[in-house]
Amino acid sequence: MSDLVRLSFSIEKSLLERLEGLIKGSGYQNRSEYIRDMIRGRVVQQQWQRNEEALGTVTLLYDHHARGLDGRLNQLQHEHHGAILASTHVHLDRQICVEMIMIRGRASQIKHIHDQLAKQKGVVYSSLSISSTGKKLIPRHHH
Ligand code: NI
Repeated sequence: MSDLVRLSFSIEKSLLERLEGLIKGSGYQNRSEYIRDMIRGRVVQQQWQRNEEALGTVTLLYDHHARGLDGRLNQLQHEHHGAILASTHVHLDRQICVEMIMIRGRASQIKHIHDQLAKQKGVVYSSLSISSTGKKLIPRHHH
């Protein structure tokens, strides 16, 4: 990390106490690393707001006995084969399935795929975790 810079900035005492509380509660050992990760988190949020290329993970919980559902979820994933990187299916018990689907694409495309999956009858819970391809987060080596 040769491009490391030190900076100082002003902050209200009460806000600094909040920050210290957040750091203490988070398990971070290092204030700098906490702030770096906070910034990275905002960068990822902004990438989603600007509809840039992103990574998302969908978690779907559904009823294995719902008629035709396995097939519909499979069909949807085939329709978006270019964006879907991987999926993992786990049979949680005799009736309940969970599927995790990793998707790369424009933020709007990932949300669209998530919506299509989530609205299928028999899906009882779905969530979309937003992430990044990392291109704006990781310092690039120049070859
Ligand atoms: Ni299953």
